[in-house]
Order: sequence, then C-alpha cells, then structure tokens
Amino acid sequence: MTIQGAPEGLTAWVARGEEVAAAEERERARMRGMRFDTIAVHGIYSAEAALENQGSIIEPAYLSPAQHFADSEHLEAALGYLMPAWGYTRIANPTVHYLEETLGLLEAYGTGTVASAAVTASGMAAVDMAVSPLLADDGSGRRASVVVGARCYGGTFQLFRERYARERGIDVRWVREPLDTAEWARLVDGSTRLLYGEMPSNPSLSVLDIPGVAAIAHDAGVPLIVDATVATPALLRPLGLGADIVVHSVSKSISASGLAIAGAVVARRGIVARTGPDEMREDFALHVKLLPMRDHGPALSPFNALMILTDLRTLRGRMDAWSRSALRVARFLEGHPAVERVLYPGLASDAGHAVAARDMWLADGADGEGEPANRYGHLMAFTVRGGQPAARRVLDELRLVRRATDLGRVKSIATIPAISTHQQQGEEGRTIAEIPANLIRLSVGAEHPADVEADLAAALSRA
Ligand SMILES: Cc1ncc(COP(=O)(O)O)c(C=O)c1O
Repeated sequence: MTIQGAPEGLTAWVARGEEVAAAEERERARMRGMRFDTIAVHGIYSAEAALENQGSIIEPAYLSPAQHFADSEHLEAALGYLMPAWGYTRIANPTVHYLEETLGLLEAYGTGTVASAAVTASGMAAVDMAVSPLLADDGSGRRASVVVGARCYGGTFQLFRERYARERGIDVRWVREPLDTAEWARLVDGSTRLLYGEMPSNPSLSVLDIPGVAAIAHDAGVPLIVDATVATPALLRPLGLGADIVVHSVSKSISASGLAIAGAVVARRGIVARTGPDEMREDFALHVKLLPMRDHGPALSPFNALMILTDLRTLRGRMDAWSRSALRVARFLEGHPAVERVLYPGLASDAGHAVAARDMWLADGADGEGEPANRYGHLMAFTVRGGQPAARRVLDELRLVRRATDLGRVKSIATIPAISTHQQQGEEGRTIAEIPANLIRLSVGAEHPADVEADLAAALSRA
C-alpha cells in the first residue's frame, strides 16, 4: 500500500505494518491447521513473538495504558489505523489482542469460516457492542425492529426492553418459544435489523435451531446473533451453523476460575446486514473494535485478558468433564420425588434434546481424535414441588453448592433466577421468558458429582 502525497516516513511505517500483518496472517493460517486444544494453548503467540518479548513463554501483560512511538510518522500511521499498532489500551492492547485472536480461531474451529473477535469489559458490553451498530439510523425514517428470543439472561432482557425499546424507541419483538422457527419468521419484516437468541439459554436451557433461524434472518437480509455463553466454542460453534455473530460472557466457563469479568463479540467475515458501511459487513468484530468500542470505551483490562487466557487453555477438557458430571446430576434430579421438572438439553426428555444432539458436539470428540461426542454443558435448571417457599428451603440448605448469581465456575453454584438474575425484569417479563418462581438454576463445577448429588439430596429432603 502506498499513500499518495504522504511523507516518506509514513509510507515506510505503513509498509512495515503490512509486513507485521502478513506475519500474523501466516501464523493464523498455521494455527488453523492445529487442533482445538493447541489453539487454546497458544493462539497466535508464536515462538517468534515470545522471542520479541524477552523469551517469555506466556503472553506478557502489557499493563501500560499507552504505546511509545519511534517518531511522529509512526504515531500518525498507528493512530490513523494505517498499520497494526495498539496506541492506547481503550482502543487496543497486545495482551488483549492475543486473547481476541485465540477466541476468533476457536469460534471458527472446524466451521470452514474465518472469524475475528473483539473482547469487551463484560458480557453485557459485548451484547451491546454486537447489537448497537446494527441499529444505526438508516435514513428511512422507519422505526427499526429486532426479533429476540425471550428466554435469555435477565441483563440481556433488560438491555433490550429498557435501553433499546424504552429509551431508544426500538421495536423489540419477543419470541416466546425460541425453538419454534415459525414464530421467528412471523415477527420478521422489512423494519427488522437483526435476530438474537441464546443457545442454550440462561436460565431455562432453551434450545435454538440456529440453521433454521439463520435462514429466516438471511432471507430478510439481516444477521443472526447467538449468545453461546453457556455452551462455549468447545461444545457449540454457531458460525458453522449459519450464525453471523456470536457473543459470549467470557466471565463464565471460559474463565472458570473466576478471576475476571469479560465479554466477546466474534463475527464471521462478511456478515449479512442491510444497514451500515461495507467495512462493517466485511469484518464486523474489527469494525466494532476500531470504531464503536473506541467511542463507547468498554475496553478489557490487559490484566483480566491474561487471567482469561490462563483459563481458556484448558477449556475443552473442562467442558467435557463438567458436561459429563452435569448429565449425571441432571439424571439424579430427574429421578428425585421433590423435583417437578429438569431442564437440561442432554436429557432425552428435554424439548430441545433433538436439536441439541444435532448441534452440540465436543470439539475433536471424546478421545481428542475426532470420535463424535455430544456434550451439553454444565448448566441446568429444575423446578421444586411446593412452589417458591420449597425452592428457597432447598437453596438455603445447600452446603457445598454456593448460592450466587454466577455460572460456569469451577465451583458448583445455584440460584433462584426469579429473585436474583431475573428479578428486575418483573413478573410480566418473567412470564414472557418462562421463568417460574420455583425454578433453581444449577451450574455444576469441578467437584466430584457424587458430592454435588449428596448436597442436593440433603437439601431436597427439606423441600
Ligand atoms: C447468557 C449470558 N449472556 C450475557 C451475560 C452477561 O455477561 P456479564 O455478566 O459478563 O456482563 C450473562 C451473565 O450471566 C449470561 O449468562
């Protein structure tokens, strides 16, 4: 690339930037040929990158808020986005970059797609950064609508209802039964900007037919955004099923030790969208990172990026083991007389089981050599006979399982969504989202499942 009329120094920096970008692209291409675990361990932090960082085998934490530049032209080229650089941590940061690159590769793993990622300071920031750019004024004067699976995390429900619908006048159309593709299709029209759903959903573990809903979105010329926090790329890779954008609360299973809050927007190259500039469609995550995130400022701390990289390396093995524990615990709960109903897509009795069995596969299979293995994650929910008083008694009696508004953690955690994560959306909002008062959400951690079952059995005996 040459810059017309540019000083020689600037052109030289741009050329240097092209070399750096080409070297990174070579490393990405090399890593695409590796297995999931290898990508999770190394990302694009190559042996050469290590040598450029004093030989540090672990990605260094660049805690400095800003980058020093060699000269004014270097500064100008970097801040003009003419060459890869980081400049200022609100815009970019080397440690954060390594995390973004790893997440982009893992999300695209085995899907035949190429993806890029932008990480954010929380999962909610990721949801907002994925949705907001698609709601920009298109000059038509027409009120924009979005079609959203109502069975979603309480914070997401509030973001759509309070921030987008009430404050910004967006027409938010709720899909009450996300598994029903006909319901999605009925709500889409020429004003629709995007379709949004969780797979599986928090807290009711509702399942989304991603290929079916993606086809509806694409027929309408708009993208499908999938929140795959509960599954993680180890178990579900929505881009390979037709989704355009994936969002994660990285705060959960990806960083299971619980040392940081974060989010991620991961998008395939060339998303379907009716509005917005071509650059946005071409590389949505990069667009979000370089422009909306620069202006809104939900940047991730590099320290948190390092904490997350540390956990991410072992994601596949953890999701495998915890899914197996969770299936065992779900079966135990299903057979317990104090339990009305268990919501877990791994159970044959679950309404979403067939679609989950079609789409949720452990990356590289049970043996790591590709023998196909369904895994359904560590999150489940169950209703307790006797209404909310009984559910509260069970929650209060737990001794090993922690009472907290959290999930995907190394420690097992339970909550009653109606009084915690989904309290603020009110009775009416919980009715739309199908969250009964006596529902307990359970995230199974790394403890031996027999001990988790014993804790639940003791608590359920007091229901
Ligand atoms: C499915 C889902 N999406 C998004 C979020 C928001 O993530 P964060 O808490 O990191 O902002 C959560 C949080 O629980 C979640 O469960």
